[in-house]
Amino acid sequence: MQRIALMTSGGDAPGMNSAVRAVVRKAIYHGIEVIGINRGFSGFIDGDLWPMSLGSVADIIHRGGTIMHTARSEDFTTAEGRARAYENVGRFGIQGLVVIGGDGSFKGAKLFHQEHNLPVVGVPGTIDNDIPGTDYTIGFDTALNNVVDAINKIRDTATSHERTFVIEVMGRDAGFIALNAGLAGGAESIIIPEVPFDIKEICNKLLRGVKRGKLHSIILVAEGAASGLEIGKKIEELTGFDTRVTILGHLQRGGIPTAFDRLLAARLGAKAVDVLMEGKTNRVVGIRSGEIIDYHLDDVFNLEKKVELDMLELAKILSI
Ligand code: F6P
Repeated sequence: MQRIALMTSGGDAPGMNSAVRAVVRKAIYHGIEVIGINRGFSGFIDGDLWPMSLGSVADIIHRGGTIMHTARSEDFTTAEGRARAYENVGRFGIQGLVVIGGDGSFKGAKLFHQEHNLPVVGVPGTIDNDIPGTDYTIGFDTALNNVVDAINKIRDTATSHERTFVIEVMGRDAGFIALNAGLAGGAESIIIPEVPFDIKEICNKLLRGVKRGKLHSIILVAEGAASGLEIGKKIEELTGFDTRVTILGHLQRGGIPTAFDRLLAARLGAKAVDVLMEGKTNRVVGIRSGEIIDYHLDDVFNLEKKVELDMLELAKILSI
């Protein structure tokens, strides 16, 4: 293998830059050239490609977002769009492709491999942590810490005013961010898409809490489960409590990546290069029980990644 290409795709995730740096430097260390593709699959189609050097990834390890820019490409969902991208494979002499992104990006990579037989490796990068086969995805830990930091701040004002706060967090269809942040932040209730909820039960718990002297309550809502605004309205209706809603939105996705995310990204990026050098294709790299592994790309679509329901139970017990 003499030349590989690299892109970040889908929603940016803190730590992606550490993965970019690892892919570039590990490949160059082994004498492999790296072509960077800007703006994910959109840039692939448009020919926005450039040769990366050791220096091109200097001073990025601590930066959030992605220096390569990212996009969600409608065109790449069509065979025609993918064929246009393939023209750039020939033009730039690309022999393998590393895609840092989430499941939507991996779907694109899978189709591209099927149609054009280019070896592909996926590196899981999404704050949602919803990629089956890996315990963690790049960006999840930073997003989680961003949410916990926000809960800490909201707690100050919630206590001062003796208010109920509903905090809506991201995660698309999954509740990993809400569940982990809810437990770490001491939320009274956590609403996630994986478990049905009963608003009356949540309100009764709030009423019981106030009766026993609680000064404030925090409810965490995953965006995939319900609208924070609607939950807030309902709580006010059913309890009469002064309730405020905060939607954290893209704040969660920004900021300096944690050491955990940087380490994970460095190890996964380097592993992706190893996998291509071993002549494997259609693979995803990941971490399981602390070990860096690679597995079949199809597993991302065939396996299920479950939230830890015992954590939800524990959060209930601890916030009684
Ligand atoms: O997949 C990452 C994510 O941040 C989700 O949590 C969220 O639903 C979505 O992306 C938001 O997408 P966009 O940045 O395109 O609004």
